[in-house]
Amino acid sequence: MGVLDGKAAVVTGAGRGIGKGHALQLAKAGASVVVNDIDADVAAEVVAEIKALGGKVIGNTGNVGDKAGADSIVAACVAAFGKIDIMMANAGIARDKTFLKMTEEDFDSVMNIHVKGTFLCHQAAALQMKEQGTGGSLVSTVSAAHFGNFGQVNYAGAKGAIASMTYTMALELARHGIRANAISPSGTTRMSDTYVGPDGKKHPMPFIDPELNGPVLVYLCSDEGNYISGQIFGTGGERIALLEQPKYGHTLFMPGGWTLEAVQKNFKQNLGNKLESLGITKPPYPFASGIHPPEAK
Ligand SMILES: NC(=O)c1ccc[n+]([C@@H]2O[C@H](COP(=O)([O-])OP(=O)(O)OC[C@H]3O[C@@H](n4cnc5c(N)ncnc54)[C@H](O)[C@@H]3O)[C@@H](O)[C@H]2O)c1
Repeated sequence: MGVLDGKAAVVTGAGRGIGKGHALQLAKAGASVVVNDIDADVAAEVVAEIKALGGKVIGNTGNVGDKAGADSIVAACVAAFGKIDIMMANAGIARDKTFLKMTEEDFDSVMNIHVKGTFLCHQAAALQMKEQGTGGSLVSTVSAAHFGNFGQVNYAGAKGAIASMTYTMALELARHGIRANAISPSGTTRMSDTYVGPDGKKHPMPFIDPELNGPVLVYLCSDEGNYISGQIFGTGGERIALLEQPKYGHTLFMPGGWTLEAVQKNFKQNLGNKLESLGITKPPYPFASGIHPPEAK
């Protein structure tokens, strides 16, 4: 008996990397799985691997970034397994460049596959779940890059958007019995292999098996996880971390409203000394002594 016996799941971008790990774990937990990937060859390999394990599986090559593609993914799941219970929006790409060098194409392509792809796949799945009357689970994929990461304005922005979408989908869809959560995974993959530091160089990273994100996904989508919605978890390797939600912090009030003079008098000593560090690694706040134009040449 698996905890997902009888459930039908889609994983987008499941032909390799973290998505492949998700598909394997969902299948091992008893779910029937649609292995979606725009790359037909790798999708077919994962389908064969799951079949060899005795799982119920089909492949699909729909493009998550267009509506016809997203609709076809959900339709394929319903045609093969009669319904959809789980949508894991995982497909993604990276087009890293520093902000001033990033092209419109770099920006649009990343937004399209991550943000629009997540929107389209989840909306198609949620409409189907609502029609079924069964409820279900939507799980998105964010990244710690949305805290700010050098060279990733497009990707960080996309992942921040998906985090905010997760909170909002959870609020709206609970009435239909649909949960919306996200994971911020980690794993050694084709994508992780492209990361470079602010110095423009690759830094050796320990191997992390991408399949190790899957057990949290399975738990979130199981009936046992039915109390969890609107939450984001850092997964992968040996950890599971609850990602704290953004919220207003230290707050100043001025009866009657703030004048510029009042801001000048109060800001620096009451808020200016509480500025937060930023970026994935959270070094000390880097700009305390000011940011100045370059010296005139
Ligand atoms: N690897 C990490 O450490 C890490 C960290 C944080 C977040 N993530 C996120 O995890 C997800 C998976 O990343 P990965 O590292 O496994 O990357 P990957 O490149 O190994 O795999 C991504 C898969 O998505 C597929 N894909 C791309 N565009 C598609 C489209 N339009 N439609 C359908 N499939 C498409 C690709 O063909 C590929 O097989 C991504 O959303 C990524 O942003 C990864």
